[in-house]
Amino acid sequence: ANRRHVIAGNWKMFKTVKEAEDYAVKFLEDVKNVTDLDIILCAPFTALYALKNELEESVVHLGAQNMSWADQGAYTGEISAQMLLEAACTYVILGHSERREMFGETDEAIAKKVRKALEAGLTPILCVGENLSVREAGKAVAQVQGQVAKALEGISPEDLSRVVVAYEPIWAIGTGKTASSQDAQEMCAAIRFTLARFMGTASEKVPILYGGSVKADNIAELLSESDVDGALVGGASLDPQGFAKLIHNAA
Ligand code: G3H
Repeated sequence: ANRRHVIAGNWKMFKTVKEAEDYAVKFLEDVKNVTDLDIILCAPFTALYALKNELEESVVHLGAQNMSWADQGAYTGEISAQMLLEAACTYVILGHSERREMFGETDEAIAKKVRKALEAGLTPILCVGENLSVREAGKAVAQVQGQVAKALEGISPEDLSRVVVAYEPIWAIGTGKTASSQDAQEMCAAIRFTLARFMGTASEKVPILYGGSVKADNIAELLSESDVDGALVGGASLDPQGFAKLIHNAA
């Protein structure tokens, strides 16, 4: 398909401000001439402002890993869309399986966050994915399509045209076990089918990423699939030179 590819790094809970700054300098050196795909770094909240200074006006876009559904108020420990915009974020990961599984995020909360991000002008990277027992029971497609539908219910087709979806099978995250490119393709196509219910042919423009043990040596094969438009990369995004290599293999 002729969609622009997207490679997003998700640092998760790694890197101090100093480590993030050192990373940015090295990373930018290696990717500054990459213009044929979108590069995103999703960093911890505390590192965002420092990264803004390092990466502003570069080819690298900034993202956060979570966000509140509220605008402001008595929500101890939460971070708002406006705060992320101030730190130069243009993307925000929402509904990552680690947040769903360890921090009790529900489909309802994720739906509110997606809506808030779009209203605020941030691009949500909506994460969906099944665990191993669901896959083995043959229910993966139905569950993932359900997650997508619940997150997008009631959002206008215009707003939805800015969404990014990431399919991350939980059994492939941090395990070294990547989904086969055929499995990734099958699910990304199923997700696009569900998107079409909400937005018609505009679903053809939505980037759908794969995540789960993506590395420099498997990215090209994943991207050769017609509905896989990029990757959400955890572990392999932590080293600047390694992640730059992955990006060059994707470009
Ligand atoms: O958000 C990224 C995913 O959870 C994938 O992590 O590349 O370390 O398997 P991983």
